[in-house]
Amino acid sequence: MSSPTPRTVIVTGGGRGIPASVVQRFVDGGDRVAVVDLVMERARAVAEAVQRRGDRPGAAMAFSCDVRSWDSVSAMAESVRASMGTPEVLVNAAGSYFAYKMPHETTEAEWDSVVDSNLKGIFLCCKAVLPGMMEARSGRIINFASNAARSVATALGVEYTAAKTGVLGLTRHLAREYADYNILVNTLAPGPTDVERVKETTSEDFYAAIPKTIPLGRYARPEEIAAVAWFLASPDASFITGATLDVNGGIIMV
Ligand SMILES: NC(=O)c1ccc[n+]([C@@H]2O[C@H](COP(=O)([O-])OP(=O)(O)OC[C@H]3O[C@@H](n4cnc5c(N)ncnc54)[C@H](O)[C@@H]3O)[C@@H](O)[C@H]2O)c1
Repeated sequence: MSSPTPRTVIVTGGGRGIPASVVQRFVDGGDRVAVVDLVMERARAVAEAVQRRGDRPGAAMAFSCDVRSWDSVSAMAESVRASMGTPEVLVNAAGSYFAYKMPHETTEAEWDSVVDSNLKGIFLCCKAVLPGMMEARSGRIINFASNAARSVATALGVEYTAAKTGVLGLTRHLAREYADYNILVNTLAPGPTDVERVKETTSEDFYAAIPKTIPLGRYARPEEIAAVAWFLASPDASFITGATLDVNGGIIMV
């Protein structure tokens, strides 16, 4: 299915992993996508790969941004508006992480980085695009949480569980506040997905053991998560707001 008219879409963290698949899904659907990442080379590589594959020059453009900083987010949003138009869809998927530590061993800097990138960053990106969506009286926002938000992170630390749980409340609050403007805000909570970060944060044995804990018996493919982001931004999801969609192979059933 494709968009009836191409929309301007921001995907944060679009430089790799699941968010890079989200970029491809929206481009395939006919939209224009701003690929936003802290690491500009990653964003550029994803945007260039899209250009090479497709016949739509300009369908994806790279932007560097640290979602933890308002100055950086507001400058990015202004550049996107100037070069691609007012954002109609925002997918907040960026977020950093550190290897697992016990809470009493976690440093203040680790806590701040993870909470600021996974939670405050969503608030700042929403703050930057909401006025344009309010003017249009329409918009879709999809915020990435995790199965950790439904229970407790097993491969990552307390700061990740806390940040991702905060995303559920932030999303519900925004959904209530902006419903009058027909701006729909939802959480997408993926389970373990076969991307670079999982290999970086787990030992070989743990990486092999994870699928045994998932009722469907395997990792998600990033495209399976991207398909749900696409659905939440589609006309088919026009009566869903403030919800959390668990896409986790049954690892947590709530
Ligand atoms: N991979 C999984 O199994 C899994 C499971 C549950 C939830 N998630 C969530 O899905 C999202 C994507 O995870 P992933 O593992 O596919 O990708 P990832 O963790 O590799 O991150 C994607 C991109 O985010 C960027 N990023 C990090 N901090 C940033 C910042 N401050 N500003 C801008 N960009 C920043 C990174 O540079 C990276 O390119 C994250 O929100 C993650 O918490 C992932």
